[in-house]
Amino acid sequence: MSGRFVTVEGPDGSGKTTAARHLAGWLEARGVATVLTREPGGTPLGDEIRRLVLHLRDVSDDLDPRADALLFAAGRAQHVARLIRPALERGAWVVSARFSDSSLAYQGAAYGIDADEMRRLQAFATGGLEPDLTLLVDVPVEIGLARTRRRDEWNRFEDTEEAAFFERVRAAYLELAAAEPERFRVIDGSGSVAATDTAIRQVVEPLLTAR
Ligand code: TYD
Repeated sequence: MSGRFVTVEGPDGSGKTTAARHLAGWLEARGVATVLTREPGGTPLGDEIRRLVLHLRDVSDDLDPRADALLFAAGRAQHVARLIRPALERGAWVVSARFSDSSLAYQGAAYGIDADEMRRLQAFATGGLEPDLTLLVDVPVEIGLARTRRRDEWNRFEDTEEAAFFERVRAAYLELAAAEPERFRVIDGSGSVAATDTAIRQVVEPLLTAR
C-alpha cells in the first residue's frame, strides 16, 4: 500500500466533518489523489446502516449496545473492503470522518462495552487496518452541543443523550490519543473553521514531503 489513511475523529459538533472535507480538498489541490469518506457510510450498505442507527427512530431508539456495535462494525468491514483498501492500494489517500475510534469512544467507553472486546471487534471488522494518522478534533462538550442544536434532521445521539454521555465520549477520545501519541494529533476545534484547518495542515504537511 502506498496511500495514506487519515481519520478525523471527535465528539458531535466538533466540526470534524467540515475539517475532513477541507483537508481532502487541500490535498487534492496539492496534487494528491484523495478519497473523502465517512462513517457510518462510505458504501451503499454503510449508508443504509447509517439510516438505521442514526435516523430511523423506531430502530435506533431501542438498539441493544452489542447490536449497535455490530451494526457499526458491519458497515466498517464493508467500507474497508470495498472502498478504503482498494483506494490505498491504488496509491490514493483516504480521509475518513470517523472510523474505529468512534466505536471505541461511543459503544465502548460511553455505552460501557468492554474495551478489549471492542478492540477485537474492530480488528475483525477492519482486517487489522489502522489509520496512519488520526486527527482528534477536540472541543468542550457545551460548544459541540450548541453547534449540533442548529441541525434539522433527527439524530439519535444528539437528540437523546445527555451532556454526561458526550463528556464520556470526549474523555475517551483524549485517553485514546494519550495512549497512542504517534498515531493521534489533538486539534483544538473550539476556534474558527479556518483555525482548525490551519492546525490540521500543519500536521499533515510533513507527511506530504515524506511520501
Ligand atoms: P454524524 O452525523 O456523522 O455526526 P457528526 O457529524 O457529529 O460526526 O453522526 C455520527 C454519529 O454516529 C455520532 O453521534 C457518533 C456515532 N457513531 C458511533 O456511535 N459509533 C461509530 O462507530 C461511528 C462511526 C459513529
